[in-house]
Amino acid sequence: MKEVITYSYEETLAMASDYAKTLPKGSVIGFVGGLGMGKTAFTTGFVKGLGINADVSSPTFAICNDYIGEKARVYHFDMYRVESWDDLYSTGFFDYLETDAYILAEWSENVFGALPDDAVIIEIEKIYENTRKFIFKSKSDYIED
Ligand SMILES: Nc1ncnc2c1ncn2[C@@H]1O[C@H](COP(=O)(O)OP(=O)(O)OP(=O)(O)O)[C@@H](O)[C@H]1O
Ligand SMILES: [Mg+2]
Repeated sequence: MKEVITYSYEETLAMASDYAKTLPKGSVIGFVGGLGMGKTAFTTGFVKGLGINADVSSPTFAICNDYIGEKARVYHFDMYRVESWDDLYSTGFFDYLETDAYILAEWSENVFGALPDDAVIIEIEKIYENTRKFIFKSKSDYIED
């Protein structure tokens, strides 16, 4: 388990950008952390780190945004309103899992059982106004906790 503390939004962007470059294609990240924690901030840096030029925002109404680059693709989910397996099927989540695209899911606790066993779970805690702690876990660590 790894922990990283960032002291600004910009620092989160840089950290996530570096992290993206180390993560194999096809990886799935599930975020755990409430409103305004920095899930979208992390995703913004991550997408940038893969060389993708896109406007990143929480896909609250669309449920899924895609960011397509020349060398990588990212599917960015907001699972806040996803309440059933039927809902999840209709988003294309399971189809994207079969590809080499990255999948990043906000509110992943809503679909925890559907995440692959090797998913990275990133818990985010607010330490202070501009300070966030990112705790990187595997899905199995998370279940044991
Ligand atoms: N260290 C930090 N890292 C990331 N964001 C920070 C940090 N410090 C302050 N912030 C602020 O916290 C907010 C994070 O918002 P963001 O949209 O990323 O949250 P979120 O977890 O996606 O929330 P939501 O569940 O509402 O989509 C931004 O306003 C950002 O400027
Ligand atoms: Mg968000």
